[in-house]
Amino acid sequence: MKVLLVGSGGREHALAWKIAQSPRLSRLVAAPGNPGIARLAEVRPIRADDVEGLVGLAVEIAADLVVVGPETALEVGLADRLAERGIACFGPTQSAARLETSKGFTKAFAARHGIPTAAYGAYQTATEAKAALADFDPPYVVKADGIAAGKGVVIAETREAAEQAIDDMLGGQFGAAGSRLVIEAFMRGEEASVFALCDGETALPFGAAQDHKRVGDGDVGPNTGGMGAYSPAPLMSPSLLDEVAQKMVTATVRGMAAEGAPYRGILYAGVMVTEDGPKLVEYNARFGDPECQVLMLRLESDLLPYLDAAARGDLARLPPLVWRDDVAICVVVAAKGYPGTPTTGGLISGLDQDFGPDMAIFQAGVASDGEGRPVVAGGRVLNVCARAKTLEGARALAYGAIGHLGFDGAFFRTDIGWRALER
Ligand code: GLY
Repeated sequence: MKVLLVGSGGREHALAWKIAQSPRLSRLVAAPGNPGIARLAEVRPIRADDVEGLVGLAVEIAADLVVVGPETALEVGLADRLAERGIACFGPTQSAARLETSKGFTKAFAARHGIPTAAYGAYQTATEAKAALADFDPPYVVKADGIAAGKGVVIAETREAAEQAIDDMLGGQFGAAGSRLVIEAFMRGEEASVFALCDGETALPFGAAQDHKRVGDGDVGPNTGGMGAYSPAPLMSPSLLDEVAQKMVTATVRGMAAEGAPYRGILYAGVMVTEDGPKLVEYNARFGDPECQVLMLRLESDLLPYLDAAARGDLARLPPLVWRDDVAICVVVAAKGYPGTPTTGGLISGLDQDFGPDMAIFQAGVASDGEGRPVVAGGRVLNVCARAKTLEGARALAYGAIGHLGFDGAFFRTDIGWRALER
């Protein structure tokens, strides 16, 4: 099979690593890729939101399948344009991707289909939104409707702070993503990321993980895209996973099909486990990053036939996925300044070492300098991933390897997996 992989982060490096192991693969091309992905695939400098360029590339290489990593490509309709050319795409259409790209859509959809989630209201003007705060208790959860580079959710302790967030969001700070906002009731509990492969009709559970959103040890400091992850997530017992599969995932796949926007690709449910059971925090139309990395380390089955079957509406004929009896962990090594403006350009050392079969160092914010050397090019730079029979074992491997990698200003959390260890 000839595959085009779209994206350039650690998630896509992990996908490339797994896809490259498939005996069914004949050619892997990635756009735009990164230096780590370039060791596994031919890379082409086409951005993940350049729909015309990506469709042209898929046609040029006669791709049998396009695998989309980031939501940016989905939001601008890559899957739709590929379908017009008869090219299978792992990733939802623009309309189905609204599960991620519009919070208002998802909340209304959840209400229509009885999917458990927090009470909410959707507003287009600051006056309406501020008045509606009276209907909620603090802390106030204020969310921009669209995708706002991870900055579109504010949890405000006071009414004044909530009003400020409303003014900021509707005041143009996030462009079109902030033309509408959602206020919802705060949910207390612990959050996990639950995944399912979907083909428009069928959903196949794809495991669960937990990530660490805050920048600092002990879950302090500003939010990030994720400073680390582990899988499985002991919080998600088999019965909770069943409940999520029935009440959220299956209800969503059926509902989207019934509403004329069948969902194909990976469905990533952010789930809050509350005293009243699991509730939907949000959906994403893509793999989590860095959750994808730990799932790829644990997956025993060949991934490619499942991605292909999801894209073609054919999942029901495949056998259940096989997972390794391992725990996987990912520690993100970030650049000084992250999650603000990171310091970029520094040389990265240690990437040529072989850390053995149970480890993978995925490259995220990495580019090549003029001499082909790896340099820091983003906030989250390296994903140091390991698997072992226990979380302690996986942690020891990952943290042991970090000492052999580096760049100026590198930092990481030292407590990835603490919630699972404390259970
Ligand atoms: N790790 C969270 C996300 O991918 O959105």
